[in-house]
Amino acid sequence: EDKSLPAPVKIKLDDTDPKKIQLGDGKESKGTRVRVFGRVHRMRGQKELMFITLKDGYGFMQVVLQGQLAKTHDALTLTRETSMEILGELREVPAGAHAPNNRELHADYYKIHPGWKAAGGDEAITNKVSKDTEHATLLDLRHLTLRGETASKVLIVRDAVEYAFNVVFKELRLRKVSPPALVQTMVEGGATLFGVPYYNEEAFLTQSSQLYLETCLPSMGDVYCIEKSFRAEKSLTRRHLAEYTHIEGELDFINFDDLLNHLEELMCRVLEVTMSDPTIKQYIMDLNPEFKMPERPFKRMKYTDAIAWLVENNIPNEDGEPHKFGDDIAEAAERRMTDIINRPIFLTHFPAEIKAFYMLKDKEDPRVTESVDCLMPGVGEIVGGSMRIDSHEELMAAFARENIDPTSYYWYTDQRKYGSSPHGGYGLGLERFLAWLCKQHTVRDCCLYPRYFGRCKP
Ligand code: 4AD
Repeated sequence: EDKSLPAPVKIKLDDTDPKKIQLGDGKESKGTRVRVFGRVHRMRGQKELMFITLKDGYGFMQVVLQGQLAKTHDALTLTRETSMEILGELREVPAGAHAPNNRELHADYYKIHPGWKAAGGDEAITNKVSKDTEHATLLDLRHLTLRGETASKVLIVRDAVEYAFNVVFKELRLRKVSPPALVQTMVEGGATLFGVPYYNEEAFLTQSSQLYLETCLPSMGDVYCIEKSFRAEKSLTRRHLAEYTHIEGELDFINFDDLLNHLEELMCRVLEVTMSDPTIKQYIMDLNPEFKMPERPFKRMKYTDAIAWLVENNIPNEDGEPHKFGDDIAEAAERRMTDIINRPIFLTHFPAEIKAFYMLKDKEDPRVTESVDCLMPGVGEIVGGSMRIDSHEELMAAFARENIDPTSYYWYTDQRKYGSSPHGGYGLGLERFLAWLCKQHTVRDCCLYPRYFGRCKP
């Protein structure tokens, strides 16, 4: 450093006096005068004394308006969601009283700037969305529902979980890529493809980035992506969306056991990293008070054993008959089994005919594939994965068996021509993971603006 040069100019983002803080900040700064901005979350008042709970996405703060401050027109007509700027002194709450972070802001000045007032009367937010409002209306008014405590906690946890996946993928040395959303091939069957006009050609919204991830292995090693996947699901269930966030990984030179161990490590580390933030941990415990870290190792159960378990426990298939080999275990049966066993399950070795074309057959039992679904109590399947067929010949036979024209898959089949390898991967539905972690009844409440059969707004 050349000391003869002028000292660098200090750039202060906030040089207001008193200092502006966010509502969850400065937990120790009692006795100081601060400036805060936020929206009215709750309020209650007596003649000369008004308590306002202010929120700003970073926390909540109790504000006390006393004397003249509680008697102004603004205070007397205050409505929920109104934005305020407040100056005051932070003090500890009196013994026996409760407030966020055990403190309250004693206001000496506040301002409701022009346009900051929220609608009142019939138009008040509490008359639009409340606990008694129908779910469909809540979804029409999702932009307002989001402001509720539960919805905002779920979305804040979602942000933390997505971040944790990125952190853990880096720990496990996977590299992030961004495959295309507009594609001309299918991965998980033609029935759920969304077609889109694409200039003069036909294209689809991607169902999974898996095939593209596979093409990255030779150049980048193990890879992952966090992208949207699209499924034109026509059934209305609590775990199916038309657009969801798909966390997918693909690993090179592995065997099936490596894949299962990796998945278990990934999910458990993501939970550890997520829970290491005290605010996020608190939100998860508020949403899901019984949450416990899953026990390791996860239970591993073969499909054939699951069929036997379902028969023993009198849980019938969709035709009302006892389950038999070859049945696709339907959502209801799968969830009942998972709820009764009540711990994460790796359900493995599904029959080839009920699984996707690319899955590798088990060498010991060619009726089944090296495939896995991870099932969680309360939700059921949250991950689907498998080892992939690595021989060119077998892959072409699989295309033929499934009646898929391989022509447009040339870029995928070429992988088996130019140095193939034993590899496998998986996809995890972020909304389903969150429904489990935050104990939400439906995945619709685990994304910002859900899209599903019949809904494409707001
Ligand atoms: O089991 P799926 O269909 O597997 C695949 O797409 C693989 N190609 C992934 C891969 O190996 N890279 O979907 C994987 C996961 C499911 O376990 C589920 O969590 C989620 O994606 N998922 C959905 N989530 C919400 N709405 C839907 N309609 C979903 N379909 C699948």
